[in-house]
Amino acid sequence: MTTKTITFTSTFAKDVTQGLTSFPKTLSSKYFYDKKGDALFQDIMAMPTYYLTNSEHEIISSQKEAISNYFKGSNGFDLIELGAGDGKKTKVLLNYLTQENIDFTYLPIDISQNVLDGLKKSVEEEIPGIDIKPQQGTYFEVLDDLVHYNTRKKVIMVLGSNIGNLLHPMAIEFLANIRKGMNANDLLFMGFDQKKNPQTILDAYNDKEGITAAFNKNVLHRINHEMDANFDVDQFLHWEVYDPETGTAKSYLVSKKEQQVYINALELEVNFKAWETIHTEISQKYDDAIVSWLASEAGLQIVDQFIDSKGYYKNYLFEKK
Ligand code: AVI
Repeated sequence: MTTKTITFTSTFAKDVTQGLTSFPKTLSSKYFYDKKGDALFQDIMAMPTYYLTNSEHEIISSQKEAISNYFKGSNGFDLIELGAGDGKKTKVLLNYLTQENIDFTYLPIDISQNVLDGLKKSVEEEIPGIDIKPQQGTYFEVLDDLVHYNTRKKVIMVLGSNIGNLLHPMAIEFLANIRKGMNANDLLFMGFDQKKNPQTILDAYNDKEGITAAFNKNVLHRINHEMDANFDVDQFLHWEVYDPETGTAKSYLVSKKEQQVYINALELEVNFKAWETIHTEISQKYDDAIVSWLASEAGLQIVDQFIDSKGYYKNYLFEKK
């Protein structure tokens, strides 16, 4: 037997090779996001069935005063938002804080400089006088940097139930990493989508228009473009399942037939049996018990929580234990 040594040119290349040569096959949802994937996610957030956005928007709009009261510091505070995106929900809070003359600096963090440039422009236009200092980087780089923001109170904010895309051990690691950058007085404000009628969840991740399907399949388009591969994307089906016991929604791409794909850049042939799966994403749903367990494992504790009128979604405030 001959063994082939390949030096991977990127983590994406390494993860694709590992994911498509394991059984069952997997590809990580973090690779959904290129320019097209970002735009599809914006479309998802605008869909009425993707209730997460409206629920979190409602929480922030209707409870901004109570939330801001926790944020305020005697010496002002730094509001550090991880994965800022287009800032639609955040702007509601920023507007309120500014109107109330509360002393704060907004530090949005995102991997995309493009996103940050757009956000800075729109925030400065809509909220004159705001102190905004965008920081470009990955969560990891930025979390390491958090420790240096220690001149006054910090509030770290992660909206959108982004934590739900991580399995519990990774979610604990993520929270523990945030905790490392927190002092006794600092707060973490984070959104967690809640367990609810399973049908509501399935409808959010399986829209009739096929936007979520296109988002899921975008990972195959990326491999085609970036690794010179020949996935016949239409020959894969978007499939969503939700387990109400564990609260885990899972997305798959299912091969509609027996087929072979060749990925030139990886010199890799991938064989699919008919109806074989690629697991692509988890979107975890929570209840108070799971959230407080995750927090406790990471050395955090819940200070307070804010819920929307339908009971679909919660934003929790955490401090160091
Ligand atoms: C970014 N993340 C929290 C979204 C979610 O709900 O899991 C991504 C998404 N996947 C399908 N629809 C939206």
